[in-house]
Amino acid sequence: MASSSSTNNSTDNHTTAWDKSSLPDQIETFDDYKRLYALSVEDPNQFWKMAAQRLNWYQFPTKIKNTEFDHRTERGVEIKWFEDGLINVCYNCIDRHIEKDPKAAEKTAIIFEPDMPTESHHHITYGELLLSVKKFANVLKKHGIKKGDRVTIYMPMVVETCIALLACARIGAIHSVVFGGFSANSVAERISDCESSIVITSDFGVRGGKCIPLKSKIDQAAAMPQCTTVKTVLVFQRNYGLENIEEPSSGQRSSLEWTDGRDFWVHEELKTVDDNCPPEPMNAEDPLFILYTSGSTGKPKGILHTTGGYLTYASLTFKYVFAYNPGEVYMCTADVGWITGHSYVVYGPLSNQAITVVFEGIPTYPDVSRCWNIIDKHKINIFYTAPTAIRSLMAHNDSFVTRTSRQSLRLLGTVGEPINPEAWRWYHDVVGGGRCAIVDTWWQTETGGFMITPIPNLWPLEGGSATLPFFGIQTQIVDKKSRLPLDPPSKGELCIRDSWPGQARSLYRNHERFVEVYFKPYPGYYFSGDGCEIKENGYHWITGRVDDVLVISGHNIGTAEVESALVQHAGVSEAAVVGYPDAVKNQGMYCFVTLKDNVDPTDELRKDLIKTVRDIIGAHVFPDIIHFSPNLPKTRSGKIMRRILRKIVEPDIHNLGDTSTLNDPAVVDELIRASPRAK
Ligand code: PRX
Repeated sequence: MASSSSTNNSTDNHTTAWDKSSLPDQIETFDDYKRLYALSVEDPNQFWKMAAQRLNWYQFPTKIKNTEFDHRTERGVEIKWFEDGLINVCYNCIDRHIEKDPKAAEKTAIIFEPDMPTESHHHITYGELLLSVKKFANVLKKHGIKKGDRVTIYMPMVVETCIALLACARIGAIHSVVFGGFSANSVAERISDCESSIVITSDFGVRGGKCIPLKSKIDQAAAMPQCTTVKTVLVFQRNYGLENIEEPSSGQRSSLEWTDGRDFWVHEELKTVDDNCPPEPMNAEDPLFILYTSGSTGKPKGILHTTGGYLTYASLTFKYVFAYNPGEVYMCTADVGWITGHSYVVYGPLSNQAITVVFEGIPTYPDVSRCWNIIDKHKINIFYTAPTAIRSLMAHNDSFVTRTSRQSLRLLGTVGEPINPEAWRWYHDVVGGGRCAIVDTWWQTETGGFMITPIPNLWPLEGGSATLPFFGIQTQIVDKKSRLPLDPPSKGELCIRDSWPGQARSLYRNHERFVEVYFKPYPGYYFSGDGCEIKENGYHWITGRVDDVLVISGHNIGTAEVESALVQHAGVSEAAVVGYPDAVKNQGMYCFVTLKDNVDPTDELRKDLIKTVRDIIGAHVFPDIIHFSPNLPKTRSGKIMRRILRKIVEPDIHNLGDTSTLNDPAVVDELIRASPRAK
C-alpha cells in the first residue's frame, strides 16, 4: 500500500512515555486518564487526530470533527468524522501488520475453538488470514459485488464469518450480518430492507452439539414475497469432524436444496480466483456496515456505521480498556451477529494485531466448565462475556470452575446488561481468583464501542458500576419529568452531550427515524434509552432501559434494581421483573425468578424474597407476584426478553410480537400456563 506510512504512521513511534503529539501506548495512571480525558473533551480535534494516527491512512484527514447534534438547527443532526480521509479497514486489520514486520505473517490472528472440544482447534496466522480474505474478496468480485453494495452474512461463529466481514471491508462492500438464530422471516426482512443481492451463508452451523441449518433458512427467506433482491448465495461448508452431531431432521445435511445459477459452494469458487486483491481506498464516511437491532416499535433499525471513525474508536477502546499487550490471547464469547462480535471479536482486536479466539459453541456444552477449560487450553489472558452467562454458570457448584487452573487470566470483562453485585463478586473471586480486574463496559450497538468503562487498575472498582466515561464521552443525566439536565450526583436518563467517532451515523435510508429515536427526546443530546445514576465519586450505575422503569404508587422503581436485589438471595439464580397495570397503584410488580439447583419453590421462600427486596431497596418496594420458573425466555445471545414477559403479565398474550430470536420458544407457553395473570 503505497501511501499509508508516507502520509501518516505514528504506530511505529509509540513509547510508553507520552510525548503529547501522539497517544500513549497504554494509560498507566489515573492522572494520565484525567489529563487525556480533559484534552479529549476540550480539544476533540487534537485528541481524535492522535487516535486516528494509530491507523494507516491513504490520505490522512485534514478535517477531524464536523458534527451537529441539534435537530432544531438548519443543518439538522449530522455526524462526520475525518471526512476527507481515505482508509481501508481490512488493510488496517491485516496487511499493515505484515508490512510493518514480515514476521507478523507467521503470528496467530485467530484461534478457532470448535463446538465440540474433541474436534481439533486451529490457529490462523495473519498471513493465512490475509490470503483467505483476498481470495474470498475476489469471489465476491467475481459475483459482481463492488464498493457500496450490500452483502448479507448469515453464518455460524466460525473463522469464515470473520473472513467474510473482512473481505467486504477490503472491497468496500457494506456488510449486514444477521445473527444465525434469526428466523427465515427476520432474515428476509433484513435482506429486503438493505436490498442485498448476495447472501453469504453456511450449509449449517454447530452449536451445543446440535446441527443448525442455515442455508435452508436462506432458501426459505429468498422464497418469501418481500425478498426480491437475492441473486447469489455463497455457501461455506462446515465440513470437518462432524460424526457426533445431532441433525435437526434426518437427512437434512445430505439433502441440501440447491438452486443452480444462484447457489455456489465457496470452496469451489475459491479454486477459480487468484489471490491478488488490493484493498479499496475508502472515504472515512463511506459505510462499513449495517447492523439491525430491535426497536421499541416493530421494525428493526438498520444501524449504520461508517469507516474511519468506527475503526479509530473500536481500535482505541480495545487497546486501552483491555490494556492489551502484544502476544496476549483474548477471548470474547459474543457472536459476530451482534455489535460486540463486530467491534470486539473482529475489528478492535485485529486492528491491534491481537490474538482473538473465535468460539463456535456455548458456555454450557458439553458442561458448565467449558469456558474455564478453554481458558486453560489456549492460555487466555483476557476473557469478555455477558452477565447472563456468569449468572447461569454461578448457579452450579463452584467446583466446575475451581477444578480448572485459570492462571493465565489477567483481566475479565462484562457487557450487555447491568451486572448485579453478587454475580460480579463471584466472577471476581471464583473465576478470577481475586487477581483480575473486571471491566464492566457500558455501550450499545449505536455507540460502536465502549462508552463508560473502567480502564484496568487505574481506579477502584465497585461491582455493578461501569465507573467512568471513556475519552471523549461526555455523559449527561437528564430528568424525565422536567426534561432538564442535572448536575451530578444525579439519577435520571442517560444522554451524551457531544459526538464521538464510533457513533452510528444514521439508520440505513431512514435518517428521520434516527433523529426521532435518538435526538428528539432531548434536543441537542444523544439519548441512550438507559437510566443511570452518577454518584458523588462520579461513578456511573446503569439502572436498565428506561422503558423498564416501573412507577408504583408514585415511586419510580428500576426493574434492574429489584432483579439485582432478588439475585442477592442465596436461593436465586436469575430474576426478571416487569410491570403490569394496576388500577390503584398504577403498576404492580411481577417477578419471574429462577431458583438454583435443589432449592424448593415454597411460599416461605416467596415471603423471604419479598423481605430481601424490601430490605435492600426500601419498604416502598413490594413484589406483588413472584413466579418461580426454571427457565426464562432468552435470545440466543442470552438476553432475557422482557418485552415478552410484559406481554404475558399485562396480559396481552395474543400480541407477543416477534419471538423468532428466542432460544427456546416453548418457555413462553410454559410461563403463560403457569402465570396467574395470563388467564
Ligand atoms: O441497556 C444497555 C445494555 O444493553 C443495551 C445495548 O444493547 P445492544 O445494543 O444490544 O448492545 C449490547 C452490547 C454493547 C444498553 O442500552 N447494556 C450494555 N452494556 C451494559 C448494559 N447495561 C448495563 N451495564 C453494561 N455494561
